[in-house]
This record gives sequence, structure tokens and C-alpha cells, in this order.
Amino acid sequence: MKTWADPIPAAVERLRAGGLVAFPTETVYGLGADALDPAAVAAIFRLKGRPADHPLIVHLPRSAPLEDWAREIPEAARDLAGRFWPGPLTLVLARRPRVPDAVTGGQDTVALRVPDHPLALELLAAFGSGIAAPSANRFGRVSPTRAEHVRAEFGAAAPLILDGGPCRVGLESTILDLSDAAPRLLRPGAVGARELEGVMGRPLAAEVAGAPRTPGALPAHYAPRARVILAAGAGEGLARARAEAARGARVGLLGAWQGALPAGVADLRLPAAPDAQARVLYDRLRQADRLGLEVVVALPPPAEGIGVALLDRLRRAAAKR
Ligand code: TXA
Ligand code: MG
Repeated sequence: MKTWADPIPAAVERLRAGGLVAFPTETVYGLGADALDPAAVAAIFRLKGRPADHPLIVHLPRSAPLEDWAREIPEAARDLAGRFWPGPLTLVLARRPRVPDAVTGGQDTVALRVPDHPLALELLAAFGSGIAAPSANRFGRVSPTRAEHVRAEFGAAAPLILDGGPCRVGLESTILDLSDAAPRLLRPGAVGARELEGVMGRPLAAEVAGAPRTPGALPAHYAPRARVILAAGAGEGLARARAEAARGARVGLLGAWQGALPAGVADLRLPAAPDAQARVLYDRLRQADRLGLEVVVALPPPAEGIGVALLDRLRRAAAKR
């Protein structure tokens, strides 16, 4: 009889030695290091090619007291953590001095979340402390939602990877900043604004334009190599894809449409339900790269549920680079 070795002890050992471990979460795969070890955290930035002033999310074991990491914990943070953790919500709070600058990009705040994936929770429980982890992709590229995406992303430089299968949500966590008086949504995700407001019993601050503190908030991000064109509707998108094919471009159509695929257009069809679209979006964008497409015409996602987050990522993928 074949027995499988438990991958967790080796992963914990790697983390304790200052090494990197890629692990699954319910949203996307993370590239993790000991959050209290600045040298280990620096290795994440090197491998990703990420600018040092872009802070990382600290992933916590479910039992970790928030006060170990945050110095001021508003009631809303406790309520939201109680309601959504483990889950796809990241809270930005005033940091404790022990959280290294390497993690926070020198900011006085720290982003925290408890991920909802059995392997991640097992890893965190066994490690017994916070794991700093951005998405396990090179800077500016599409987040990985399967272990093979991580392997493809880093090739020979790939870290130890825990394979937890495809991610259930498929888009990065919602980020809510609670470090100021007014709660601010920094990145939309599976936990929607209305749900947050419902639990907090107060409205979110209107989005402020200005210098983004989050790389996901840079206009061009989450992008495949192909130029992405976000169509206003299905009719326009189909026409645009046909026109690109007619001028000889290697074009793909991304979205849920009725009827046949236009001739000469690569099939990047998405399921109709918003949740299902979120789950496979990044896999389709990677497929576009594998097919060597020059242009991807994306149809607008359904304007419900996770559709807000889907539209946000498609807009960023379509932003000028
Ligand atoms: O779902 C997720 O959040 C995934 C999984 C692995 O947990 N992680 C993820 O990490 O998407 P990353 O680094 O790709 O995006 C984290 C975002 C960045 O946009 C970062 O700037 C922001 O969180 N962030 C981290 N610390 C922050 C802070 N103190 N203030 C504001 N934003 C912060
Ligand atoms: Mg990322």
C-alpha cells in the first residue's frame, strides 16, 4: 500500500529556516515566508521582482490573537473577523512595532487575514505564527489559482509548493482599511461592500483617488501578455473579436456569450455564473498566453455578487502598460 508523506512538516521546516513556501488559499496561491523574519521576507520580493515599498498580507493561524499584530483593534475589526474569517477578507490595521518594515513597506499599518483553505490552515497552525505572502506570481502578472500556475511562473526558481488543487474563489481577497476613522475598501473581492457595511453597521468611505498603496490598485495589473480589450457588451465584443480576426490578429474571446464562436477566434469562454467566472478567469488569461494570443476581447462580467471584483480585475488587465 502506498502512503503519502505529510507535506506540512517539511514546509514548516523550510519556513523556520528562512525559506519560501508556496501554498494554496481559497482565493489564489500565496508565496509565503516567516512574517517576523525580514531576510526571509526580502527573498519574496527578490523572487517576485516586486518593488520593496509594496506591502504584504500577513496570514494568521485561526487562533492567533489580533493584538499580537495590530496595536489598535476597532470593534469593526473584531466583528468582521468573527463573521468572515477564515475567509477572503483582509483587514488593514495599525501595526505592532514587532511587524517588520519589510512586510509593511515601512507603513505604520499591517494587512491581516486568516485564509479559508485546509492546507493553509494546517500550515499556519503547525508554524504557529504569521506567514507573510503575496500572490505567488511575478510582479504585475496574473495570480496563480493552481499549483501548476506557480510552477509555470517561477520555473527552476520555484519554491516548495503545497498543492491544494484549484482555488475555490479564484480572485484575491477583499481588502478593507480600518486603520483610519473611515473604513475604506482598497480592493474588491468575494466579500462585497454591502456585506461589509451590513456587519459594520456603517457605510464605507467613498473611494479616494490618489497614490495607490496597493500594487493591485495600480492601473495595469493582473495582466496577461496579450492586449486586453474590455467590451461594453456582448454584441460589441463579438463584433470586435471578428474585426480583430479579420485583420489577421491572433485574438481570443473571453466571457459568457450565447451562440457560436466567431471564425478565427480562440475560445476563452467562461461559465455564466459570476462565482464560476471568478474561479476560472486567471486560468483563461494564462491560457491566452499559452496560445500566444496578441489580443483578448473580454465581455463585461455579470453585474452581481463577485461581478464587481471581476470587472475590477478585467479593467486592470485592460489598462495601458
Ligand atoms: O487573496 C489574497 O489576498 C492573496 C492570498 C495569497 O492571500 N494575496 C494577495 O497578495 O493578493 P498581494 O500581495 O498580491 O496583494 C496584497 C495587497 C497588495 O495590493 C498590498 O499592497 C496590499 O495587499 N497591502 C498589504 N499591506 C497593506 C497595508 N498595510 N496597507 C494597504 N495595503 C496593503
Ligand atoms: Mg498579487
